[in-house]
Amino acid sequence: MKIVKFAMIALCAISASAFAGDKKATDTTPAEDLKTYQDYFFKRFSGVPLQEYANGVYAINEASRENWEAIEEFPPYEPMIEEGEGMWNQPFANGATYGSCFGDDPAQRKNYPYWDAARKMVMTLPLAINECRTANGEKPLKYKKGAMANLLAYMSYESRGQKINVAIPDADALAAYNAGKSVYFARRGQLNFNCASCHMESSGQYIRSEQLSPALGHATNWPVYRSKWGELGTLHRRFAGCMKQMRAKPYKTQGEEFRNLEYFLTHMSSDIEYNGPSARK
Ligand code: HEC
Repeated sequence: MKIVKFAMIALCAISASAFAGDKKATDTTPAEDLKTYQDYFFKRFSGVPLQEYANGVYAINEASRENWEAIEEFPPYEPMIEEGEGMWNQPFANGATYGSCFGDDPAQRKNYPYWDAARKMVMTLPLAINECRTANGEKPLKYKKGAMANLLAYMSYESRGQKINVAIPDADALAAYNAGKSVYFARRGQLNFNCASCHMESSGQYIRSEQLSPALGHATNWPVYRSKWGELGTLHRRFAGCMKQMRAKPYKTQGEEFRNLEYFLTHMSSDIEYNGPSARK
């Protein structure tokens, strides 16, 4: 246990500053942020092309990459894609389907998250799925795993190859983006970490047996079949897990904070292709 504590302190020391640093979230525009963020990683891991960042830690570790590629050849999430396809095709009790809400096209990844100007909120795909269900008299699904993750796996699989392009169309949208950025860079927990402590300044380094992935591309590959979970999980499940690692109380899945965080993080992966679902250690 002592060793773990030491590793954490060492991480803390190297994560003193970077990117937003002491600046306010509103000091830089999304376009400036994107450039800073991409340049940071292009310099840190020179030679790794942008699209590669969709592969998380395997973009920067050749040794673990081989093993991962072998796993992706017979992906553990394949049965879940099929489950999700079954859900997509199965009418609700009232006869409507998911297609009735999504214009019959399961390849919806590129359309989410988006800024819903009328409701003044970030709309995510899982939230839209549950709104479709409740509008048709069905119970909402849990957000972290299970049926929701299966349906997302199918919809993401159908969306593979779509490019991330998140619009930030007006001042309210920008405020939500900046709120998400603040969630990302807020220091919290007794370790006083922010997300960048691990996924920018310590990316490529090890924390216990896990190598820390670069933040670039973090929104592209969901849902994820994690060997450690032994099942499929969603992006917000991962957010919650990382907040626990920071010894902070996680926000609610699909609550405003995590939706804004997703909005910010997805914008930061602009121009990378969606490639979910994926397998991770
Ligand atoms: C104490 C270090 C630490 C902090 C701080 C941290 N994470 Fe993580 N995170 C990890 C580890 C370890 C993993 C698993 C290995 C990897 O993929 O980086 C991970 C994985 C992830 C992944 C999945 C990457 C993939 O390719 O599947 C995402 C997304 C993520 N973190 C987001 C966040 C966000 C957002 C925050 C801030 C709320 C955060 N993390 C804070 C340690 C951390």
